[in-house]
Amino acid sequence: MGERGMKLLGLVLLVLSSAGYGVVGLNIWPMPKSVNHGQQSLLLSKDFALDTEGSKYSDSSSILKDGFSRLLDLIQVSHNVDENSTYYDHSQLLKRLHVVIFSPDDKLQFGIDESYKLTVPSTGNPIYAHLEAHTVYGALHGLQTFSQLCNFNFTTRIIEVRQVPWIIIDQPRFQYRGLLIDTSRHYQPLPMIKNVIDAMTYTKLNVLHWHIVDSQSFPLEIPSYPKLWKGAYSSSERYTMADAAEVVDFARRRGIHVLAEIDVPGHAGSWGVGYPSLLPSPTCQQPLDVSNEFTFKVIDGILSDFSKVFNFRFVHLGGDEVDTTCWALVPHIREWLNKKGLNESEAYEYFVLRAQKIALSHGYEVINWEETFNHFGSKLNPSTVVHNWLEGNVAPRVVAAGLRCIVSNQDKWYLDHLDATWDQFYMNEPLANITNSKQQKLVIGGEVCLWGEHIDGSDIEQTIWPRAAAAAERMWTPFNNLAKDPRQVTGRLAHFRCLLNQRGVAAAPLAGLGRAVPVEPGSCYKQ
Ligand SMILES: *[C@@H]1O[C@H](CO)[C@@H](O)[C@H](O)[C@H]1NC(C)=O
Ligand SMILES: *[C@@H]1O[C@H](CO)[C@@H](O)[C@H](O)[C@H]1NC(C)=O
Ligand SMILES: *[C@@H]1O[C@H](CO)[C@@H](O)[C@H](O)[C@H]1NC(C)=O
Ligand SMILES: *[C@@H]1O[C@H](CO)[C@@H](O)[C@H](O)[C@H]1NC(C)=O
Repeated sequence: MGERGMKLLGLVLLVLSSAGYGVVGLNIWPMPKSVNHGQQSLLLSKDFALDTEGSKYSDSSSILKDGFSRLLDLIQVSHNVDENSTYYDHSQLLKRLHVVIFSPDDKLQFGIDESYKLTVPSTGNPIYAHLEAHTVYGALHGLQTFSQLCNFNFTTRIIEVRQVPWIIIDQPRFQYRGLLIDTSRHYQPLPMIKNVIDAMTYTKLNVLHWHIVDSQSFPLEIPSYPKLWKGAYSSSERYTMADAAEVVDFARRRGIHVLAEIDVPGHAGSWGVGYPSLLPSPTCQQPLDVSNEFTFKVIDGILSDFSKVFNFRFVHLGGDEVDTTCWALVPHIREWLNKKGLNESEAYEYFVLRAQKIALSHGYEVINWEETFNHFGSKLNPSTVVHNWLEGNVAPRVVAAGLRCIVSNQDKWYLDHLDATWDQFYMNEPLANITNSKQQKLVIGGEVCLWGEHIDGSDIEQTIWPRAAAAAERMWTPFNNLAKDPRQVTGRLAHFRCLLNQRGVAAAPLAGLGRAVPVEPGSCYKQ
């Protein structure tokens, strides 16, 4: 660690030690829109059950039932409840969670209602908790919140719901709350991807942006062009389309969308392993050959195959970091440019717009990285969502131009930047410098990004958590409920970080830089 790192570490430790531990506070992360609570306790009955009496939702595909069973696993994961405890007091038993969902439909669509209302009374005969939501996905958020009200009591050896009665009313601030993973720089095994998705549900993030392929490797099967995954690192570091469908289904049942990306034309060298003619030449490999009709046929085939599995409204077509030098250097492309009367930058525009049209023809709306906007913003399809990543103040310009925007400025929201600390993640405001309320609505949300150059199964979780959770509160919680000073939430985030550890998620300590190890012996709550 450099001198800057040591200084930062000192600062963060100071922040942690002044944060008031041990106080019985409100330990819910992310903080709901509105919370009222008391100081009594209930005991979770050993036959605590789900009750859906009066719900319009039939749960024919068991999304709610499975969510409830995951809830029971989560609250019992750390300790063994003593079912014969002598402390079971019938007047204090919470018998059921009564869930009422108003919409019969469980199609997971972008922008659906994710709100819920959770109440846990302190008395009743019998005592039931109540959860109301418009959609089953709102109800799943309510279950996550409920899980954070539960604690194991070491005297009684029973799970308690403390601080009853509770009245919690909640809904997200932004519709799009994303996390990017990159399976091209390093392959991520399926169980690891599922672990990430499960932990996303704990923080109420709702979009897994899957940067599947890039220059380094092409791990995904594309049935229309079966040689593409020859670009995988090895014959085993691959995903079949059935694997991809499983990820999408696993995520969907937890209320999480999967955003698939192919990053064209710049980040696509691996496509040439199977189909060399997609690249300008064997020695000048990127970007993809703009002069070759086959290039667009392959993009069409990929997006056609995608549309059968990746059913999110959006597809991500990349478009960042395009260095067109090879197009000018390779004779057959240079001739094509001359014949068409295009210079290199016009050819970049031609490529991106043509790829957009192909995606639109498959029913997708397109997300592109911000360089496309910076170079030819007025030419982009009006339904384009511009994905910020550079540090410059681009979101205000994107929304002023009437386009939608996702905020991911790399100085604050890139998880692979280990010098970006949790408090910077917490304080990064997607609506900074946007005051017009119509324009604010065009910022559909934000995304934290974990680029995979130094990430594999050994370190993915501790690089994501807890910093992604800090950003998740920024994206979920109403602006006026967010702390103005991150020190006000240090204790609550430390508590949540420990909860992640208790649930088997390898979240790193808060103190120090991203993915830091514990600095000294001590309590989880103080690291
Ligand atoms: C609780 O008591 C029942 C009946 O005596 C017994 O069968 C069971 O094993 C006990 N459970 C535990 C966890 O001790
Ligand atoms: C655990 O239960 C005991 C017995 O009911 C109670 O006195 C104690 O306050 C509980 N512990 C906590 C931390 O709430
Ligand atoms: C490419 O052509 C356009 C339109 O003529 C022009 O505005 C732009 O400056 C040119 N770009 C370069 C890099 O020469
Ligand atoms: C907001 O605008 C100011 C002034 O242009 C700039 O210094 C600042 O970096 C901007 N903030 C963000 C988060 O873009």
